[in-house]
Amino acid sequence: MNSSFLDLPLNQIFLGDCLKLLKQLPDECVDLIVSSPPYNIGKEYEAKKALEKYLEEQTIILQECSRILKKTGSLFWQVGAFSNQGSLIPLDIRFFPILESCGLIPRNRIIWIRQHGLHARNKFSCRHETILWFTKSNEYIFNLDSIRVPQKYQNKKHYKGQKKGELSCNPKGKNPGDIWLFRNVKHNHEEQTIHPCQFPEDLISRIILATTQTNDIVFDPYMGSGTVAVVSRNHQRNFMGSEIEEKYYHIAVRRLEEKPNQTNHFPNLKSLRNYVEKTGENIEKYRFDMQTGKKATERKKAKIFPEEYHRQELEHRLLYEESAFSADLRNEDRPIDVNLNGGRSKKKVKIDQSSDKNFKQLEIEL
Ligand SMILES: C[S@@+](CC[C@H](N)C(=O)[O-])C[C@H]1O[C@@H](n2cnc3c(N)ncnc32)[C@H](O)[C@@H]1O
Repeated sequence: MNSSFLDLPLNQIFLGDCLKLLKQLPDECVDLIVSSPPYNIGKEYEAKKALEKYLEEQTIILQECSRILKKTGSLFWQVGAFSNQGSLIPLDIRFFPILESCGLIPRNRIIWIRQHGLHARNKFSCRHETILWFTKSNEYIFNLDSIRVPQKYQNKKHYKGQKKGELSCNPKGKNPGDIWLFRNVKHNHEEQTIHPCQFPEDLISRIILATTQTNDIVFDPYMGSGTVAVVSRNHQRNFMGSEIEEKYYHIAVRRLEEKPNQTNHFPNLKSLRNYVEKTGENIEKYRFDMQTGKKATERKKAKIFPEEYHRQELEHRLLYEESAFSADLRNEDRPIDVNLNGGRSKKKVKIDQSSDKNFKQLEIEL
């Protein structure tokens, strides 16, 4: 199948089944496919059979995705774990051979960590999902300079040899690595719409900036609330995609429109804030779909933290939890977490110093 760029349904979301849209697209027409497929795979008692059927259906979708991907193209497939009566099925393990069977080459298995979630009783609580990155060939795009993050030791220098005294790290920053910590779009996140499982926009920005150039085409077969479309547009990329549920399709369209609907509502707080910042209008005139409070808050009054903040917060927390556990094992005093109970406490923490054992203070600056 061959078709010109002009025939493609660029910068539109198709309301309907993604397979129908995929079948209409020509070979090798998109630069990037990024998606999180649904995994509503039937009732629990029939999960095993339903899982096999689901994977068969996904294989057909992925074969089509591979077909429409350009030779230099990339595919990112984000999946979690499925639980069948308490027994774990990590979906990425099942998807890996399917993607390989579509002729795609694995590049990364990205771990997306969540700080919060359900607390399990009979096993360790699940705190990550995976994003599989596959490419169509070895000639793929990876714009590392567009997605570098700050080095931990920015002034480290070579201490011997010809480069002695010169910076030993790249001053532009480092590779972000394959463990990502973008905050989930849940309660209190300014991007939250009525959709239950949205991608955070910054996570999609990292993928788009790393693997595409300006004016490239990004495809998401499962658009949901339209995050991939919004982020592609914001980075001057074209998008295409589909969404089967009318209510989510309308959310995606409203996110792209960036203006209030007839009842002065926005699909999320972020579009509302963008609009009042751009027009200078009074924020109190508008509401967003998930709003519970009387009035939306302005962005300058909101606490919005970058991924690096959440990474340090999580590192701090994990380090604290493991040090406390180690101290318990050795019957020592637990270290003090200066950030306990949300944020740096102004109150001095009471420490029982009756024992003559030394206590350690965890000093990790946020
Ligand atoms: C995990 S969500 C994707 C959310 C999206 N990443 C976002 O940021 O909002 C999967 C979406 O796929 C949609 N969907 C399920 N089956 C579909 C199909 N056959 N064709 C198109 N969309 C479908 C669901 O309605 C759901 O909104």
